[in-house]
Amino acid sequence: MKEDIQSILYSPEVLAEKVRQMGQKISHDYAGKNPLLVSVLKGSVVFMSDLMRAIDIPCQIDFMMVSSYGAGVKTSGVVKIMKDLDTPLEGRDLIIVEDILDSGKTLHYLKGMLSERHPNSIRIATLLDKPERREAPITADYVGFVVPDQFIVGYGLDYAEKYRNLPYIGVLKPEVYEK
Ligand code: IMP
Ligand code: MG
Repeated sequence: MKEDIQSILYSPEVLAEKVRQMGQKISHDYAGKNPLLVSVLKGSVVFMSDLMRAIDIPCQIDFMMVSSYGAGVKTSGVVKIMKDLDTPLEGRDLIIVEDILDSGKTLHYLKGMLSERHPNSIRIATLLDKPERREAPITADYVGFVVPDQFIVGYGLDYAEKYRNLPYIGVLKPEVYEK
């Protein structure tokens, strides 16, 4: 896998420190509450598993799966629910946990759909944000790193289901997806 990576953007140590800070901020903001962390599969699982352990107040977790990318590198704009949440959302404080906010179409759609279930609040925590690429009117409440417009993989992020298990985040060599 290493040979397909052009450069390393965030090392495991840098990721761990950022996630620790995000967990502290969330613990502070939600003190006295019991937020529900909603992980959007599959890209956010690594971030989710680290973030939940960086939160030191009670919280719950749930997962949903949507498809927007398939094996390509661009969002189709069509968001399909492949797996829905098990938890009723009425009155809950939701934190949607995402790996990367790109065009924003996926999260814009999700946030709209989940808000119809009458939660008390919805916020978005994303490890990575590519604001230059935004097409939908959406911003995250907690952002780890603002990244340049390059295709990146690792720490949960994939290209065609590969590279999710890299312990760092790196830029994928363009020849890997251009061939
Ligand atoms: P959006 O709807 O365009 O914001 O798409 C967000 C989803 O696209 C993320 O959850 C990722 O699965 C995927 N994605 C966007 N940019 C990248 C990238 O640079 N590397 C890997 N996946 C990406
Ligand atoms: Mg993906």
